[in-house]
Amino acid sequence: MPDSNDTTNTTDTSEEYSFNAFSNLPFYRQVNARLLDLAEVGRQRRIVDLGCGTGGVTKLILDRLQSAKDTVIYAVDHSASALRDAVAELGGRRDAVIRFVQSPVQNLKTAISGDVDAVVYCNSIHYVPDKKNLLAQIREKLSPNGVLAINTSFFDGSHPPESEEFFRRWLMRSLRILKREYGMMPDASQKVESRQHLSQQQYESLFEESGFTILKSEVADIDVPESGWFHISGFKDWIEGVLPGVPLDAGRQALQKGLSQVFEERQIVTIPRRWLSISAARTN
Ligand SMILES: C[S@@+](CC[C@H](N)C(=O)[O-])C[C@H]1O[C@@H](n2cnc3c(N)ncnc32)[C@H](O)[C@@H]1O
Repeated sequence: MPDSNDTTNTTDTSEEYSFNAFSNLPFYRQVNARLLDLAEVGRQRRIVDLGCGTGGVTKLILDRLQSAKDTVIYAVDHSASALRDAVAELGGRRDAVIRFVQSPVQNLKTAISGDVDAVVYCNSIHYVPDKKNLLAQIREKLSPNGVLAINTSFFDGSHPPESEEFFRRWLMRSLRILKREYGMMPDASQKVESRQHLSQQQYESLFEESGFTILKSEVADIDVPESGWFHISGFKDWIEGVLPGVPLDAGRQALQKGLSQVFEERQIVTIPRRWLSISAARTN
């Protein structure tokens, strides 16, 4: 079982609506592999996989360790069900020590003892409202030569204008299916608090103000295949964000059916998305 440092009231849903299927898609692994290059994880000894989810990135880290027996990976997430998936997948690995820590990232300071050489934070920083506080905690955790690497596809600029028509049509189709086949509509009063999307420039400034020196900041154009949108439609956070108040099963079905209709009618194979990656060192 994961260490439990959790102090928040997290909902434990079935692994059926987990991030796992998306996390293992080849295009997504490639995006994260690039980030692990930036963090030079192969040469690090104490590594935090922050917001590790079902362990897709933890697995990528394990694959690159030069001296796995001297390495500790802290896989931190607040979701009990995501960590259960991660433990099921990786708990038996004997080639490195993996400590699964159930904690909100906001409690990083107390969730892990001692300092670390690298923090990798894949596709999760946009969840946290008070990023300044989190960055201060990460800085405090890092050893003097420590590295932080984040990526996100939810920043100001992540949706290329040419993808807007696709999203509009996809939502329209999904709402129609939801109404016709399930007699339901989303409930706007249950909308998850909208997240503030920072621009690349704002992220860079935030890092610098928080005591980091930017090593690399880049935006990659990624062609996300239909399988990416299909699997993200089965992820709880995505369903709740797009169709607030709709039961997960109905939401997933409507989104997946709507998706295949739009891909078919428009004869498309991918939809572009931009991914921001930043690596930074502690400013000493
Ligand atoms: C989009 S998934 C990414 C998972 C993993 N990093 C990957 O790329 O495969 C985001 C993860 O962040 C976790 N998360 C979101 N907010 C969090 C918070 N405040 N504290 C800890 N984990 C959080 C979610 O539970 C989820 O597992």
